[in-house]
Amino acid sequence: MKIIDVNTKSPYKVLCGEELIEKSGILIKEYAGLNKKAETAALITDDTVDRYFADEIFDSLKAAGFRTVKYVLPNGEASKNVSNYIKILEFLAEKQLTRTDFIVAVGGGVVGDMSGFAAATFLRGIDFIQIPTTLLACVDSSVGGKTGMDLKAGKNLAGAFHQPKLVICDYDVLDTLPPEIFKDGCAEVIKYGILGDSRLFEHLSEKGVDFDRGYVIPRCIEMKRDVVVEDEFDNGQRQLLNLGHTLAHAAEMRSNYRLSHGRAVAIGMAVFAKASAAEGLCSEDCADTIMKTIEKFGLPSHCRYSADELYDVMRKDKKRKGSSISIILPEYIGKCIIRRMELSELKGFIEKGLE
Ligand code: GLY
Repeated sequence: MKIIDVNTKSPYKVLCGEELIEKSGILIKEYAGLNKKAETAALITDDTVDRYFADEIFDSLKAAGFRTVKYVLPNGEASKNVSNYIKILEFLAEKQLTRTDFIVAVGGGVVGDMSGFAAATFLRGIDFIQIPTTLLACVDSSVGGKTGMDLKAGKNLAGAFHQPKLVICDYDVLDTLPPEIFKDGCAEVIKYGILGDSRLFEHLSEKGVDFDRGYVIPRCIEMKRDVVVEDEFDNGQRQLLNLGHTLAHAAEMRSNYRLSHGRAVAIGMAVFAKASAAEGLCSEDCADTIMKTIEKFGLPSHCRYSADELYDVMRKDKKRKGSSISIILPEYIGKCIIRRMELSELKGFIEKGLE
């Protein structure tokens, strides 16, 4: 097992390896640094994950001596809403969790974000543990303390920073994922290579979906950790993690969320790489390599929406400040920059990426 220390204001560990979930109760006791009075674990999951792993984790928590209760959300992004958030809070209250008790989020990004937000706000804040069950959640959403839910006006518009007490990232869990869901997480993995590690990127370009999990997953988590520790509250360098995301959110919204997040991120990275090459910010070769790697994973690199359609959503993005927006652009594989762009320039820039 590999242990990654995340030294945010409230520090915690990420445990990476195989055969971890069956020991989750003991691992939580040993590594989460919970309050000594912690008695009740509220396991929150979704109805898909519940069929595969919840029983094992539930039993392991009980065997470790915790009174354990379970709440099951419907699977999917549509669950990340205010009504389900309130239902979780009511459940925690009904089960009489106290300030020293804790939540265990078992699932992908939706379960992790919602459970984390419930933990951040129930009784003004209780502890929570993340057990991610998708590649995307392992390398991105389970680490870094961004929690929240969607509002009608857009994704993640209500939320809080609340770091978990422990993350348990078990690679075995990924074997049960449908290939399409696994591939979705691959877009985030490619992102880390472009952002800051050309060796990681080369490995991914060569291996595609058969990459070495024991090398790639902890490497991505370490890279995320380094960025988060420097800029926990997202005022500067953490924005780099949004490579591909601003355009991705626009494409997801345009598709009424039929386009998955990972595929949208792949498109976002490809379009901005092409636009960067057209403006001479990176080489044509760099943009081509990014496109080819995305395609090697069977992810989309072309966008079906026009610059007008994308711009219309992007100009309302929550990251907009006044008349400009920060976008993340590659300089070369392993180095990206944050550039503030006037909204008036943005549409022309997107057009270059769509050509
Ligand atoms: N998912 C981007 C971040 O955690 O900042």
